[in-house]
Amino acid sequence: MALSSKFFTLVVLLSLLVFSPLDVAKAQPIAAGLSWSFYARSCPNVESIIRNRLQRVFRDDVGQAAGILRLHFHDCFVQGCDGSVLLDGSASGPSEKSAIPNLTLRPQAFAIINDLSRRVQSECGRVVSCSDIVALAARDAVFLTGGPNYSVPLGRRDSLNFATQNATIDNLVAPTANTTIVLTKLAAKNLNATDAVALSGAHTIGIAHCASFTNRLYPNQDPTMDQTLANNLKTICPSTNTNATTNMDIRTPNVFDNRYFVDLMNRQGLFTSDQDLYTDSRTREIVRSFAVNQTLFFEKFVVAILKMGQLNVLTGNSGEVRGNCSAKNSNNLYISSVVEDEGSMQASQF
Ligand code: HEM
Repeated sequence: MALSSKFFTLVVLLSLLVFSPLDVAKAQPIAAGLSWSFYARSCPNVESIIRNRLQRVFRDDVGQAAGILRLHFHDCFVQGCDGSVLLDGSASGPSEKSAIPNLTLRPQAFAIINDLSRRVQSECGRVVSCSDIVALAARDAVFLTGGPNYSVPLGRRDSLNFATQNATIDNLVAPTANTTIVLTKLAAKNLNATDAVALSGAHTIGIAHCASFTNRLYPNQDPTMDQTLANNLKTICPSTNTNATTNMDIRTPNVFDNRYFVDLMNRQGLFTSDQDLYTDSRTREIVRSFAVNQTLFFEKFVVAILKMGQLNVLTGNSGEVRGNCSAKNSNNLYISSVVEDEGSMQASQF
């Protein structure tokens, strides 16, 4: 091989290394107790079990990817990424799941996580936490719909309790929020303006119910909304109490790409919290930069979702690894009666 072509090959390889989204992830700091290779010995195939299964699930219904990505957000923002959103209510009170913002989480998203957990347990025993499964499934939801691939630091443990309904509402962001509220709420979680805009870009996939955006249609139409979009939305939601849904990204609703930001530049964002990112001078330029450069959006999204995915994680001996993602182990009589050694338990014994 001529020297110049060797040099060319080297440059290509180096640039692949430098610009690979996986490496963007691994350059980020990780929370104490998490690791890039947490299950390397205890469950080396966990990532492929999850990815292979989700490939099939999304082939049948791509919308499920959006449901899972949103589940990760709702898990992490309330009490940290600890699987608390997965818990059913108990004698201690109504669950996070039943708080108003969580009522539009897809029931299938919970079922998919439980199914993934069972599949992982049948190969490795009860070693992979439900919160790690959610984080990995969310990554695959992004990647399998066209977004960046990235490594996920692992080792989260599952909570023994869920947050109150008030804490759930306080920690999540309403779609009627303006940019000031969005930035303030995210800053409380150490997420900056770029993170806020990048994370909002998750609305490039999925659907929303009328109740999430009719504040922009009735009684008065939001002047920052494109007229054609407003007309279409009024047909879908003829009144404030319609229970219909619509795609959030009108250009490419099932593809994780940067078109959501193009929507915003064309006044075609769905929620106040979306469209105001382009109206507000603090975030406008960030929106524009992502609309014209998808690679930049992907890079910043990976940085932001890795930060989000490590919020208040439980590690080490805190919490537990749930056998059933919907119930803490002590509430699950079947599991607690057969589990002796958490680390070496084989699910085939169930
Ligand atoms: C700025 C804060 C955010 C607000 C106000 C917000 C609000 C909402 C609302 C109201 C819905 C629709 C619910 C419905 O009517 O059915 C929704 C859907 C969705 N959100 Fe967000 N969200 C925010 C941030 C995020 C983040 C950080 C992510 C993930 C990284 C995310 C991912 C999604 C996805 C994928 C959907 C579609 C879900 C589906 O199709 O089932 N959102 N969001």
